[in-house]
Amino acid sequence: MAKIEQFNKVVIVGESGVGKTCILSQFIENKFDEKEVSSLTTQYRRKQIELVTGQNVIFDIYDTAGQEKFRSIAKLYYKSARVVILVYDITNKGSFEEMKNYWYEQVKDIQTENLILAIAANKSDLYEERQVENNDGEEFAEKINAIFVETSAKNDSGIDKLFENIGYKILDPHYNFRAEEEERRKKYMKQKKRLEEQEREEVNAKTNIAKVEKKQNEEKKPNIEKTESFRVTTKTFKEPKKQSKSGCC
Ligand code: GTP
Repeated sequence: MAKIEQFNKVVIVGESGVGKTCILSQFIENKFDEKEVSSLTTQYRRKQIELVTGQNVIFDIYDTAGQEKFRSIAKLYYKSARVVILVYDITNKGSFEEMKNYWYEQVKDIQTENLILAIAANKSDLYEERQVENNDGEEFAEKINAIFVETSAKNDSGIDKLFENIGYKILDPHYNFRAEEEERRKKYMKQKKRLEEQEREEVNAKTNIAKVEKKQNEEKKPNIEKTESFRVTTKTFKEPKKQSKSGCC
């Protein structure tokens, strides 16, 4: 049986209202609450995932309350974390600044060996109200060597990817998120190109078949007409009436 990587304390931090609880609910229960109320306590959940490599990772996840008055409580949790997920809301520039200037500053000196940092740029479904560009988030993440994923707890997008990448990094501290992402992107583009080529070939083949069939039909046409006229001729041919022996009608 594949080894299970256990006891991975993951702590989610960020300003109040960025969507920390919703990210957790979506990851654990596949549900989203439009009217999620502000957390007053830290919530704990556990989940095991299987990576495509067949390896399993168990996460012990703590969702902290983001309001300022609960910050000292949050500290009790993240000071011994193996993984910290810093969350901001892409429609709220203030939450991005807070993430950089407060939350990162708080967690960067955590003494855990091989501390893993990840950034979730949440509410990506609200792209029309975006105040923080993807590049700005990605640039900061690169600077602090953090995994970076745009997520939407509402649309369930990016959340599995976020935890899978954390899983890979737990299993291999040298796991290079950006290099792997680039590799995946290249693979995807290659596959997309191959599919497009296949589609083009299929369309060409269908067009050629249609042309050949049309030509064959055109060549057959005169024969059909001849047959038809022959039928007409045979139908209109009348046999002479047989004479009765008596000569009577
Ligand atoms: P605190 O508990 O106060 O620290 O807040 P939080 O960071 O846990 O935020 P929470 O999960 O409670 O979500 C706050 C609000 O944002 C709720 O109304 C959610 O419905 C909404 N929300 C969370 N995630 C998303 C998202 O991805 N998209 C959209 N459109 N709304 C979201």
